[in-house]
Amino acid sequence: MRAVTWHGRDDVRVDTVPDPTITEPTDVIVEVTSSGICGSDLHLIEVMAPFMTVGDVMGHEPMGIVREVGPGVTELKAGDRVVVPFNISCGTCWMCNQGLQSQCETTQNREQGFGASLFGYTKLYGQVPGGQAQYLRVPFGNTLPIKVPEGPADDRFVYLSDVLPTAWQAVQYAGVVPGGSVLVLGLGPIGDMATRIAKHLGAGQVLASDTVPERLARARANGIDVLDSTDQADVVAWVRDKTDGRGPDAVIDAVGMEAHGSPGAKFAQKATALVPDAVMEKVMQVVGIDRMAALNTAIEAVRRGGTISLSGVYGGATDPMPLMRMFDKQIELRMGQANVWRWVPDILPLLTDADPLGVDTFATHHVPLEQAPQAYETFRQKQDGAVKVLLQP
Ligand SMILES: NC(=O)c1ccc[n+]([C@@H]2O[C@H](COP(=O)([O-])OP(=O)(O)OC[C@H]3O[C@@H](n4cnc5c(N)ncnc54)[C@H](O)[C@@H]3O)[C@@H](O)[C@H]2O)c1
Ligand SMILES: [Zn+2]
Ligand SMILES: [Zn+2]
Repeated sequence: MRAVTWHGRDDVRVDTVPDPTITEPTDVIVEVTSSGICGSDLHLIEVMAPFMTVGDVMGHEPMGIVREVGPGVTELKAGDRVVVPFNISCGTCWMCNQGLQSQCETTQNREQGFGASLFGYTKLYGQVPGGQAQYLRVPFGNTLPIKVPEGPADDRFVYLSDVLPTAWQAVQYAGVVPGGSVLVLGLGPIGDMATRIAKHLGAGQVLASDTVPERLARARANGIDVLDSTDQADVVAWVRDKTDGRGPDAVIDAVGMEAHGSPGAKFAQKATALVPDAVMEKVMQVVGIDRMAALNTAIEAVRRGGTISLSGVYGGATDPMPLMRMFDKQIELRMGQANVWRWVPDILPLLTDADPLGVDTFATHHVPLEQAPQAYETFRQKQDGAVKVLLQP
């Protein structure tokens, strides 16, 4: 089959690789019809490169049609339409039963000291072949895939794999209450969707910051109050001005470690590119990298006694946090990979013709799988108005 494979920094290709096969009785094989490119994929071709291996199949936001089921699969049959969550979770362990699918005890990567495996995401998370491919082997066929109805285009459902539950969790973890205020940092797919969900759930004031013109325009068109700056001083002054001098009740960081404005980011970028991977792997796990501009802005911007909800991914082991400031401001901080299945029952009822979250028109680009390298570049460079790219194998 054809698949998007990792070859190095800023180097993804489309290669022919072996078709996946059923290896466990509860496996299913899904023929992928749509597969998103995520901001998290950008980390893999940049700062997280030391944890990748040449030939790894990328992608963790797929949906498609079940083509084959193992002998132990009772809940799905060939022909069913499914979305595949990015967490590989068993659905039956203690953690899964708590709604903490990203910590699934069946797929936890204990040797690496990491949580549940993810599709297409580094050796820290199991090095499992991903879904930017024609076919995908999906384990836990009775509990993991999300069955969706026939009819609407893939765009209606594909974001159930990641964007929707991630943005939903970001808003839930932010503790946004009806009438309350929230600032969203970053208007990529995750930040954009978080603003929509916050509004939908009744936030009184939804503020957002980024610098990409098309992304700002898109949010503005949805009634979000946006600031065209990511400079900490600008953002803090702007949000205080809008919240009686206090700052918003909550800040959602939908940026993560590719933030612009981090003092050490240029160095880290150079370092990760120049230092051999084996060395950089140790450096990141033991020391960390200073790329925390967005998080630092969140800490300054949030009101005293407010909440920071982190969906942006961070990667350094000992990146410094201003604890005195956080303690004094009495900040609550919640974070983590989205627990996809935890939120599916809340989100599914919103995926209707009325389309309250605007998923049908959310993608800016639909691209054949063969054009993935160019699509990655367009998304990474934020060119051509790219906000969400769906690959179509
Ligand atoms: N927690 C999860 O489960 C989960 C799931 C999906 C994605 N993510 C993470 O969420 C983050 C966003 O993902 P995405 O797909 O929207 O990515 P993206 O890269 O398209 O969006 C990031 C946006 O942040 C903006 N930005 C950069 N620095 C900023 C700053 N200092 N202040 C404000 N905005 C800034 C960029 O211009 C860009 O528009 C990534 O870190 C990704 O890894 C986490
Ligand atoms: Zn993703
Ligand atoms: Zn589990």
